[in-house]
Amino acid sequence: MIDLRSDTVTKPSPAMREAMAQAEVGDDVFGEDPTVNRLQEVAARLLGKEAALFVPSGTMGNQLCVRLHTRPGDEIIVEAGAHVVRYESGAAAGLSGVQTHWLPGTRGILEADQIEAAIRPPDYHNPPTTLICLENTHNRGGGTIYPLETTKAIRKVAEARGIAMHLDGARLFNAVVVTGVPAAEYARHFETVTFCLSKGLGAPVGSLICADRERVVKLRRLRKMFGGGMRQAGILAAAGLYALEHNIARLAEDHAHAKRLAEALAGIKVPDAEGMREAARRIHDFGARHVVIKGGHLQGPNAVDLYYDGKDFQELKEERIKTRSNHGTGCTFSAAIAAYLAHGLPPLDAVARAKEYVTAALRTAPDIGRGAGPLNHFHAFHKG
Ligand SMILES: Cc1ncc(COP(=O)(O)O)c(C=O)c1O
Repeated sequence: MIDLRSDTVTKPSPAMREAMAQAEVGDDVFGEDPTVNRLQEVAARLLGKEAALFVPSGTMGNQLCVRLHTRPGDEIIVEAGAHVVRYESGAAAGLSGVQTHWLPGTRGILEADQIEAAIRPPDYHNPPTTLICLENTHNRGGGTIYPLETTKAIRKVAEARGIAMHLDGARLFNAVVVTGVPAAEYARHFETVTFCLSKGLGAPVGSLICADRERVVKLRRLRKMFGGGMRQAGILAAAGLYALEHNIARLAEDHAHAKRLAEALAGIKVPDAEGMREAARRIHDFGARHVVIKGGHLQGPNAVDLYYDGKDFQELKEERIKTRSNHGTGCTFSAAIAAYLAHGLPPLDAVARAKEYVTAALRTAPDIGRGAGPLNHFHAFHKG
């Protein structure tokens, strides 16, 4: 099966599970887990930093860094589509008490002069600008790679103004594999860098923050405060080590698949009803058995979720959950249909089960289901 919703749906391979099963462990809150320690050393070396800290998620990594670099009432500069402000549940305000200044980028990329103009002049009316956060590759930008020259120009501005820089490098290795620029070369322009093991690298859990030794000591304390201290975490770190040893170069396969898919879909205007049908046909030709295309969150007469099995289209409009018309629920509904199809349920049963699931979920958690990235629009299942 090819599940195109997100690179977060990857599952550990048998060899990765074996490495986890064999992991030597200890209490990492005491700093005594040898596998975690090894992972942190490998990560720090890869990123060209003195030290690293293993954290449960990319979100926690980003937010610990926001907390590290700021004080309540400060302002941080971010791109308007950045994960740190779009998909982290208001954590920068909630956990660090900072104000976020969103700048519109070009496919997620900001220019140095834009940032310079956004830095607050020192005046007691203004919040002090204390952090600039960049994201490489940029998720909402469509996987955009931050050009190194742009990063250097931003760094120059930051240094001149005494402002720290944090890189959300959740998918930094995707950039490394494409450009051949070493991760350390990207990382050296930032005080702190996070990257995720749990996306295309295929580990089930975990991210790393890389920085100098002094900052990592402070981050370790903040991690405890945020509830991210873990005990025998070597089982998870073993998966991360396996990922760094075996799965970085493999990211090139994902890029090749994404490119093939992009070529197959080239020229189609999505969203638009006929565009969506054409996309479904091409995804089916590309190798998918079931295709669910989500359009129900759109405005106007074309606002439908479509299911295509290679012969017929079914409009899922009538079945859509009526209580919500926002992007979130449409996305969750399609994802649920896709999941039930993946378990071999016939399409109409899958729709009914998905409806039950989403209705129940909405009752308990009204904010379920925010999507991330254009691939969320296509849930494709492999032939056979
Ligand atoms: C760019 C970016 N940063 C951070 C994260 C957060 O990672 P996690 O899901 O591990 O909290 C994500 C997750 O998709 C992401 O895309």
